[in-house]
Amino acid sequence: MLDVPIELARLIPPAELDELVDALRKAFGSELAIYDRSGRLLAGTDLPGPRQPLDHEGERVGALASAGPNAAAALELCATQLGLLIHHANARDLAAATHEEAMRITFAELTEHNQRLQRALARLEELDRLKSNFLATMSHELRTPLTSVIGYAEMMAEGLAGPVTSEQNDYLVTILSKADQLLGLITSVLDVGSLESTPLALERSALSLAEVVEAEVATYVPQAAKRGIAIQVEDRCGQATVLGDKKKIRQIVSSLVSNAVKFTADHGFVAIALRPGPLTPHESDSGSGAAIQLVVTDSGIGISREQVGKIFEPFFQVDSSSTRAFGGTGLGLTLAKAYVEAHGGRIWVDTSPGQGSVFVASFPIHTSAEDITEQLPQQLEGV
Ligand SMILES: Nc1ncnc2c1ncn2[C@@H]1O[C@H](COP(=O)(O)OP(=O)(O)OP(=O)(O)O)[C@@H](O)[C@H]1O
Ligand SMILES: [Mg+2]
Repeated sequence: MLDVPIELARLIPPAELDELVDALRKAFGSELAIYDRSGRLLAGTDLPGPRQPLDHEGERVGALASAGPNAAAALELCATQLGLLIHHANARDLAAATHEEAMRITFAELTEHNQRLQRALARLEELDRLKSNFLATMSHELRTPLTSVIGYAEMMAEGLAGPVTSEQNDYLVTILSKADQLLGLITSVLDVGSLESTPLALERSALSLAEVVEAEVATYVPQAAKRGIAIQVEDRCGQATVLGDKKKIRQIVSSLVSNAVKFTADHGFVAIALRPGPLTPHESDSGSGAAIQLVVTDSGIGISREQVGKIFEPFFQVDSSSTRAFGGTGLGLTLAKAYVEAHGGRIWVDTSPGQGSVFVASFPIHTSAEDITEQLPQQLEGV
């Protein structure tokens, strides 16, 4: 039971007390009065004469008085009825109080849980910040000496430190190519690290995708030709331009074309097309905006359904074993996706194992100067 003294007036609405008194008056023809513990009249007519104490579970809760015919019977029934009403009202109060207590405990637990989560989140954010700082500092520290290695190796290869034999030249070419590879890797790590902490800043200008594609593809033709892979280029967009950051768009093209060549067996094919099309892969969205699509198709190894959802994640490679056949770090597509989305475009892939892959990157077409305000740099999602 509740640990508060029972107040009749609080537990039972006055209207109910009045109803009870009226009903008994009609039934017994006698007058009735109900008083609270302090003797205040709650219902009926104040009656002189003796009052019968009204107790509930050993506690004095009020008093009753009655006069007229059948007064004793009316009094007894009134006491019984009031006992029932008090019992129900008390049970209702108890249930409400228990419920309230349970809610209070749950709330306290939730608050504590929430505080623990907040502390964990703050710790994670701090660790994330430290990790980004570490990446940025390390990348910078690694890049500086590497630039010197490349510079001096180039000077030696050019004969500035005296004549070099053809064998020494071969070694220098290898040093330079590996150093270049390492520089590319460090730059990618730095770029991915900064994607997480700073919004991507684009240096936009109206540019022809066809020209960028032509220049980038040319760098892959010799290595593809050595492996019997022909790279076809088809431009169905003519003079259309996009408002973009040339360096970033070159990286997007380079990432898709290098993957197509890398993951295609000797004597396969790679085709690159520029075509008008929807901005998103869903047909129903075709009306949402005209875009130029960069479509890179290859006859390579393809990607399974389970893996395809992960290829845009940083450092993910389908084959991550130490004996894997293909080089790389798994950052190319992460950066490509971030760069495409910063341009307001989308990137997606249609692929299956052994059937090759079709990667599509879409870019909104630049039609007028107003586009510049519409296409202000966007924040990255999911990188
Ligand atoms: N055209 C493709 N065909 C088959 N698999 C691909 C293709 N493109 C990407 N992948 C898979 O997706 C993974 C991630 O690609 P991503 O370009 O990000 O990394 P990478 O090429 O391994 O390394 P990086 O580009 O950093 O040098 C690849 O390792 C490969 O497993
Ligand atoms: Mg790649």
